Amino acid sequence: MLIGQQPKDFLLSVEGLTVSFDGFKAVNDLSFYVDENEIRVIIGPNGAGKTTVLDLICGKTRATSGSIHFRDRDLTKMRENEIVQAGVGRKFQTPSIYDDLTVFENLEISFPRGRSVLGALTFKRDAEVRERVHEVAEMIFLKDRLAMRADLLSHGQKQWLEIGMLLIQDPELLMLDEPVAGMSVSERVKTAELLHRIIEGRSVLVIEHDMKFVEDIAHKVTVLHQGQILSEGTMDKVKNDPKVIEVYLGH
Ligand SMILES: Nc1ncnc2c1ncn2[C@@H]1O[C@H](COP(=O)(O)OP(=O)(O)O)[C@@H](O)[C@H]1O
Ligand SMILES: [Mg+2]
Repeated sequence: MLIGQQPKDFLLSVEGLTVSFDGFKAVNDLSFYVDENEIRVIIGPNGAGKTTVLDLICGKTRATSGSIHFRDRDLTKMRENEIVQAGVGRKFQTPSIYDDLTVFENLEISFPRGRSVLGALTFKRDAEVRERVHEVAEMIFLKDRLAMRADLLSHGQKQWLEIGMLLIQDPELLMLDEPVAGMSVSERVKTAELLHRIIEGRSVLVIEHDMKFVEDIAHKVTVLHQGQILSEGTMDKVKNDPKVIEVYLGH
């Protein structure tokens, strides 16, 4: 952290984070800071601890020590559902959309309940939900597919739908684990465009291996190795870092 800056100056402040599985430290005294409106990419070899970091942030895995401040709240002290309500959305590697529902219905059921300012006025709420569904569908390139059953979408479209199901909850921090794996080149380009579009008012934390994609999206890159930071900075800086070339990019 820069001198004079406080954890609360960042959207997310991870400090001294450690998790030990039977004595093996998958994440080891890790500290990093994510700004508002930032797209941060975590890269690193298999087993580096990348997915575990997301598991720790979303409360799926409990930290052994350290803190994760999301603004002024320490996520290590909160339950998974409280973390979601606080504004953290997380997409897992395997899609969890409802195959037999339409695109519209998948988005509709993801709209947070009880958040409507219009309260019990059902017809107004319905209109509000519909409007939001259309807005998100447009963002995820699926506005012409609203009536289609989700299982008929392409692999890439399914990934976008799942991102949409998180976006509809308007998270301040969106976490994506390898979002473009299995996507075509054109789908990757569109996904990069999507991330740049949704950054207004939120930050995105992405794990990714595709270096072209990382280059397209990352404001900053954190390179993880054996649960620790090997290098951090702009893509230009980390890709020219001899340590990164040795343990990751050189392979
Ligand atoms: N729940 C767990 N119990 C025991 N070991 C785990 C658990 N989760 C992850 N690990 C281990 O922690 C290390 C980091 O895993 P992971 O975070 O999935 O790496 P990455 O996503 O960077 O490939 C691996 O050695 C993995 O086997
Ligand atoms: Mg992983």
